[in-house]
Amino acid sequence: MKPLIAGNWKMNGTSASVAEFQKMIEGFKAGLGDTVDLLVCPPATLLARFAEVAGDSGVMVGGQDCHFAVSGAHTGNISAEMIADVGGRAAIAGHSERRADHYETDALIAMKAAAAQRAGLIAIICVGETEAERRAGQADAVVAGQVIGSIPTVCDPARLVIAYEPVWAIGTGLTPTIDDVKAIHAHIASLLVERFGDAGKEIRILYGGSVKPDNAASLLSVPHVNGALVGGASLKAADFLAIASAVKG
Ligand code: PGA
Repeated sequence: MKPLIAGNWKMNGTSASVAEFQKMIEGFKAGLGDTVDLLVCPPATLLARFAEVAGDSGVMVGGQDCHFAVSGAHTGNISAEMIADVGGRAAIAGHSERRADHYETDALIAMKAAAAQRAGLIAIICVGETEAERRAGQADAVVAGQVIGSIPTVCDPARLVIAYEPVWAIGTGLTPTIDDVKAIHAHIASLLVERFGDAGKEIRILYGGSVKPDNAASLLSVPHVNGALVGGASLKAADFLAIASAVKG
């Protein structure tokens, strides 16, 4: 399966960032298209513009979150349909910053993922343990619970991506050992097969948390790591393209 390298810009980026995104498109067109899928999730304010700039380059853009409803009285939110309307192809659901800052539960995340698929988008569901949970030996159980609880009852496995992002590795420069990544990704892969049968084998499982150009090759070569969800290093074209280039063709 083709790895997915996804960039989560979080609350970063203004009109001045369009040029940086354009560099990413140029780099992708210059030879990455055969080996990876590339996705950039800018803040909502830039989504329509990035989608226009991406055009038919093959580079996808997506939302960092979506509401579960199609429309209505939900001040400050955007719907999956709105993301699709401006050319978005994916939506992230359940990023740990939303789980923590916005008190999002597995049940709510499942509703968001279902909404994303209903609108025709790829749903990227994030899971990951906190530092305290890992120290208590609960990483595996916490992640398994999140995977099971955050995948909606009605779900198309062909438009589902799981991102394993240990909370303590996000934005810290810390990463789990290769053995830890291997173990947890293998566990997630087995849960996906339990849920979806053979179709579960085709679901991409991304690693996220301090992915940088210098650790991308080793993380991306771990079995059942089918791409990366990149925060900080996705803001600069040179870094993001270097990470995408680390995927073995
Ligand atoms: P980071 O963020 O790459 O800056 O650690 C990853 C993420 O939150 O998706």
